Amino acid sequence: MERESTSMWELSFVVPPNHETLDFKFLLKPKYSNTPSVVEEGPNRLLTGGTLQGDARLALFRLNGDEVLESRVFIKADRVSPFDLAASWRAYQENLQPSTVRGIPDVSINAVPEMGAENGSSASLELDLEHYVVPAPAPANSGLVYAANMAETPRSLAHLGVFSNTDSSGGASYSNKDAGVSVDRPATIKEMEVIVPDPSKVYSGSGMVESKSVGTFSPLQKQDSHRGLFVDRGVGSPRLVKSASAATFTADLKLDSETKNAMPAAAGAVAAAAVADQMLGPKEDRHLAIVLVGLPARGKTFTAAKLTRYLRWLGHETKHFNVGKYRRLKHGTNQTADFFRGDNPEGMEARNEVAALAMDDMISWMQEGGQVGIFDATNSTKKRRNMLMKMAEGNCKIIFLETICNDERIIERNIRLKIQQSPDYAEEPDFEAGLQDFKTRLANYETVYEPVEEGSYIKMIDMVGGQDGQIQVNNISGYLPGRIVFFLVNTHLTPRPILLTRHGESRDNVRGRIGGDTALSDAGELYAKKLSTFVEKRLKPERAASIWTSTLQRTILTASPIVGFPKIQWRALDEINAGVCDGMTYEEIKKNMPEEYESRKKDKLRYRYPRGESYLDVIQRLEPVIIELERQRAPVVVISHQAVLRALYAYFADRPLKEIPHIEVPLHTIIEIQMGVTGVQEKRYKLMD
Ligand code: F6P
Repeated sequence: MERESTSMWELSFVVPPNHETLDFKFLLKPKYSNTPSVVEEGPNRLLTGGTLQGDARLALFRLNGDEVLESRVFIKADRVSPFDLAASWRAYQENLQPSTVRGIPDVSINAVPEMGAENGSSASLELDLEHYVVPAPAPANSGLVYAANMAETPRSLAHLGVFSNTDSSGGASYSNKDAGVSVDRPATIKEMEVIVPDPSKVYSGSGMVESKSVGTFSPLQKQDSHRGLFVDRGVGSPRLVKSASAATFTADLKLDSETKNAMPAAAGAVAAAAVADQMLGPKEDRHLAIVLVGLPARGKTFTAAKLTRYLRWLGHETKHFNVGKYRRLKHGTNQTADFFRGDNPEGMEARNEVAALAMDDMISWMQEGGQVGIFDATNSTKKRRNMLMKMAEGNCKIIFLETICNDERIIERNIRLKIQQSPDYAEEPDFEAGLQDFKTRLANYETVYEPVEEGSYIKMIDMVGGQDGQIQVNNISGYLPGRIVFFLVNTHLTPRPILLTRHGESRDNVRGRIGGDTALSDAGELYAKKLSTFVEKRLKPERAASIWTSTLQRTILTASPIVGFPKIQWRALDEINAGVCDGMTYEEIKKNMPEEYESRKKDKLRYRYPRGESYLDVIQRLEPVIIELERQRAPVVVISHQAVLRALYAYFADRPLKEIPHIEVPLHTIIEIQMGVTGVQEKRYKLMD
């Protein structure tokens, strides 16, 4: 610590009583000029056991030629109690300096662009940002696809069509020309694939296969009928370890296929809650059905898709069942508003039938290990909801999620989007005719609509617009429902960009060393300047924006040339902790710790570095970051690290957990995520190699 009094400098060392001998010299550094420091004359000073060796009470500094500056030195060693030390440290932090990391305040803003801060000139970033655009990986463009099409493939209607589930997000396309029904397709840029029927492969892309792949118990553990504790090392499956006090467990842990699959592929809080639910919760509570309720064009499908994405990312096996998709497959895409009249008995029966089929599929999937089903339909009458509750009895717990919107402008916008995007109007060439028909359909629903008053429910009232919305909850309990409510409270659909980038190349990157906390290489510094010019140009039109970094210096230094935006340091954005391997190259790990190297190669998602972290651990600690990104209304620039950005990116691009450790996030490239009413879209800018 350093403090200036009228005529002398005070320098305090805080050292433990058994400290190693310290060997040092004083430096004289002019405060306001860039001239080099002057090292004191004479031998090094030695501090041993809190006492300075020798009798050097003068420090001599030779300035220019013969000019010598003498400074008296007083050495005093005090023993300070840990409490006094902590108190003086706190006082120092509170009174003398704001909380900082590496001298940079946790929250800072260099509001006034400094003179000569026109970094663009030195970094020579051309004005045209489009010049730097590079293609984004294909699956991330899923935001362009109508959200209902990304919902689960109707397996009970498989005989009517053929499914191909080639995209990683679980979306599927199908053809049912044989049934005389036109193809359910996104009416947007991306055409979905229609494939030739092959009955033997009908289910190959459906939930059955997927749900089996997520079990987190090995077959060996399945045979083990001992009661015990789960120990999640983060490597492979949670292990069932025989407990000395096994007799104290009253619940019988049946590791049947259902239980096996119901364990989320997750770490930390999510895994702990799942284990607790397995041991203590009633069977039907292990499966949760979120049943949407609401008039058409109230944002149900977007809410369903968003919630599905979030829960999957956390590690819960979640699927989105869209009854409209079932209806289109069974009854075609050309039904007029009449089909939806409350006093049309055939229409009512047909709609109830497809709802029951979708519910059946959802329950079957849960019995195979699915955890959370999002059941997306209007479910706008008590009668329909009673039917669903009956079907759920003994199988799953139902929470109704009602979306209410009173803002006519938002409803009108949603209606228009629906005509543009829904397969129901893909073959209607006349936009106005489509609009008219949809408004009549809406009016038909309005006449029979009954708001939810029964069971457990969450009502999202005017949350889509995001300004004065509110959430009402009734009879909600438990870990997962609580988390769902928390997520819904914090999300909105205000369009805004999120820019993700790794720090500029670090010195450890150059040496191929992982982890560490080195500064930037020359290339990294150049990127920092280019990034600053990019951010200033890209975000100039925005009213506000903030820059988030980790607490490691390579991200802080990358952000430092950016001026005019608040900067916030997040510990949660620090790179994956490589534990005992921190600072090593991959080659060194392979040579010196071959078992660790192989374990990581086998299961990079779950592998936890000894005394460090796994990717699943990283995902867990990033959840508050995701919630905050969802909550923000202004653009955010996130400057972080490879593993962390893989996890964040996977959330927005809806990439499965197992892919996360392998996602490409190159250096010196900005990934712009555009969050808006039509979902999530991505653009990439490569500023340099
Ligand atoms: O090599 C750069 C780096 O950010 C390391 O610090 C980190 O350990 C690594 O990337 C994460 O990537 P992977 O999980 O592929 O090893």
